Amino acid sequence: MHAIGIDIGGTKIAGAVVDELGAIVRSERVPTPAGDSVALEDAVVGMIRSLSEGEPIGAVGVAAAGFIDAAQSTVYYAPNIDWRNEPFREKLEARVGTTVIVENDANAAGWAEFRFGAGRMVSDMVMLTIGTGVGGAIVAGDRLFRGGFGAGAELGHLRVVPGGIACGCGQHGCLEQYGSGRALMRMANEIADAGGIGQALARARDEHGTLDGAIVGGLIAEHDPGALAALRQLGRWLGEASASLSAVLDPQRFVFGGGVAVAGELLLAPVREAFLEHLPARGYHPEPDFVIAELVNDAGVVGAADLARLWVEEHA
Ligand code: BGC
Ligand code: NA
Ligand code: ZN
Repeated sequence: MHAIGIDIGGTKIAGAVVDELGAIVRSERVPTPAGDSVALEDAVVGMIRSLSEGEPIGAVGVAAAGFIDAAQSTVYYAPNIDWRNEPFREKLEARVGTTVIVENDANAAGWAEFRFGAGRMVSDMVMLTIGTGVGGAIVAGDRLFRGGFGAGAELGHLRVVPGGIACGCGQHGCLEQYGSGRALMRMANEIADAGGIGQALARARDEHGTLDGAIVGGLIAEHDPGALAALRQLGRWLGEASASLSAVLDPQRFVFGGGVAVAGELLLAPVREAFLEHLPARGYHPEPDFVIAELVNDAGVVGAADLARLWVEEHA
């Protein structure tokens, strides 16, 4: 059975027809419409219709950046979109006439890595997606962990700094504020302000008016000391949080995905370093490994499609 996976990102919506082995048969992408949720719904419906043309589709999985209910139907809350108790599944099913499930974006990506990518060889895996926000996925004993209300594995909202920076979830000091792409921009700006190793960042900021992911990513690729210092701060926060996660979940492997993960080993080195510094029972606790996601940009669509297919099989 072929299934469709749709991944709603901050800048683009990606969609694909995916086969049972996780291979992409056909794909499409459109810019995420700015503004209201009606335009977003229309864009998703348009993509499902065009991907289904001339193709029997068994299920549709839609990956979205938010807290999702256990029925995989309603987005309870989205920190970076204006969804509050959004009955997204019902709305989509009414318009496309196929079974739709809604899945957390990081869960979808993590599941794809577990089934077809960097997590293939382990039974217990944690994935962190480092983009606009910080997403989390937990695979425990070969199963995707959802929690009692469906909205578990929101690892970006683990508190790392009591009374810290305000977060889109309504709390303060969440990992998302110290380990996301947005946090990286804040750190890069602070380093630019301080002068010294921040000079190239400051020059780039003057030239473009602001620092964005492409500019900071470019400087990281050139091994600019200021940009690397920002990435190192970010990586250390993620490593410290991973040590706490290790105490709870004891995964054999941590997988890092999302836009910032293109930095590869430059990101993983400070993650590992801070992880070991904070690992409980260090020296006696077996050490998990830290790797970059393999499916990168396709993880969300492949995972959403696979989970939708499994959902339909289970509920047949
Ligand atoms: C949201 C998560 C999402 C993550 C990555 C967080 O702010 O709470 O649901 O997975 O961002 O998009
Ligand atoms: Na999640
Ligand atoms: Zn938060």
